[in-house]
Amino acid sequence: AWTMVNIVDEAVAAVRAQVGGARLICGLSGGVDSAVAGALVQRAVGDALTCVFVDHGLLRAGEAEQVERDFVASTGVELVHIKAADRFAAALAGVTDPEQKRKIIGREFIRVFEEAARDLEARAEAAGSRIEYLVQGTLYPDVIESGSPDAAKIKSHHNVGGLPDDLQFGLVEPLRTLFKDEVRRLGEELGLPEEIVWRQPFPGPGLAVRIIGEVTPERLEIVRAADQIVRDEIRRSGLEREIWQVFAVLLADVRSVGVQGDERTYGHPIVLRAVTSEDAMTADWARLPANLLERISNRVVNEVPQVNRVVYDITSKPPGTIEWE
Ligand code: XMP
Repeated sequence: AWTMVNIVDEAVAAVRAQVGGARLICGLSGGVDSAVAGALVQRAVGDALTCVFVDHGLLRAGEAEQVERDFVASTGVELVHIKAADRFAAALAGVTDPEQKRKIIGREFIRVFEEAARDLEARAEAAGSRIEYLVQGTLYPDVIESGSPDAAKIKSHHNVGGLPDDLQFGLVEPLRTLFKDEVRRLGEELGLPEEIVWRQPFPGPGLAVRIIGEVTPERLEIVRAADQIVRDEIRRSGLEREIWQVFAVLLADVRSVGVQGDERTYGHPIVLRAVTSEDAMTADWARLPANLLERISNRVVNEVPQVNRVVYDITSKPPGTIEWE
């Protein structure tokens, strides 16, 4: 019979068969997929796995700390935390095209991994071991969207396409055949905490694709602050699990006139995006209660000084995508 226990056993066996006694490195993104992939591979190979958490500075508020604390506590995995925000910021300076952002972030990500791997190898020199594999939390929908010729033109997901030609690792992708709900059940079966298993999907390129226009440290702060308010209010409303993704998008190159107190303002709009979905292939805009929308709007405009307007995205996928970039 098809059960989660069988799925875990089979996936563990498949990973062992693929990698033998080789050492592996796993990049944690802060999301569910890489955490479950990492925990699964940890179950399969134990100490042969080292997880690397690259903080590219494009994460949501509090996320880096949560990965370090919750993931390590629940898996006991060896974690290397690399703070690379400056490097990503420099690489993204002046870039506005969404696909360029993805390519740059994907490329830097892999390079940071390779450097981390070399560091780890240098330390393990005495054992004569090499790191041969990179673990990635690629899901079935990622494979489909990047694999079909039409979809590939629409969006290159950095965890499937966009890998540099000089990539020196083999890939281990234990979630390649699974949908999100299956990955969550797998995560629960592996004993990961609720905060990780039920975290909403978050794109690898992070907040960079939620700033429409150039990514700058100041813009990151704005979208991060707005996003934190949005998530906070959604959590309080109890609707978090019913909503596939909810987040803020900063229209960084758009300004509109407003009035606050006696002051004329000329600030940026935040787009509130909330969708329901089964697998991200299609999505419907979420019918959030009007009073919740009101609370989010009031708080964002009052608490984020650069923002003077909140608009709600009522586009489904298709024809929209979930993200704005
Ligand atoms: P779209 O915007 O294509 O998003 O409807 C579908 C799902 O994929 C996520 N997404 C990404 N995930 N790297 C990722 O790892 C990416 O470049 C990327 N772009 C979109 C998105 O958040 C949604 O869950």
